[in-house]
Amino acid sequence: MTIKKILVLHGPNLNRLGVREPGIYGKLTLAEIDEALIKSGSKLGFSLECFQSNHEGMLIDHIHAADKKYHGILINPAALSHYSYALRDALVSSELPLVEVHLSNIYAREPFRQHSVISAVADGVISGLGLDSYLLGLEALVNIIEKC
Ligand code: DQA
Repeated sequence: MTIKKILVLHGPNLNRLGVREPGIYGKLTLAEIDEALIKSGSKLGFSLECFQSNHEGMLIDHIHAADKKYHGILINPAALSHYSYALRDALVSSELPLVEVHLSNIYAREPFRQHSVISAVADGVISGLGLDSYLLGLEALVNIIEKC
């Protein structure tokens, strides 16, 4: 049996977690989040690959390469959530199950953060639960993939 794979994508500035506005995003570093996700994924029988970029095009290139290699995508598009139609189009073209997550509750923040152009093309969205947004998002994504 081949082990199923999930691509975890983190958008711009998430490499700064731990030092970046800890009152909003928490004190965990991105490496700690990735470690928790990989551990949880392996308990669920999935292998995870995590990738962060501050560049929209790099994320899009990863998505283009994903459909043959992965069974689903877990993404925190960060600020790209709010305006990147290019990222949205790439995610749609991948046709892979997709869960969007946010550490903070984007609906309780500045007006420009309250809309995500990605959400309408995601299977589901989890926002505001810190690390749990990622862990619950992963669990939900696994359930979606298992049903496919
Ligand atoms: C974020 C929310 C975005 O508005 C912000 O630009 C981020 C992180 C979150 O995880 O809460 O970089 O996606």
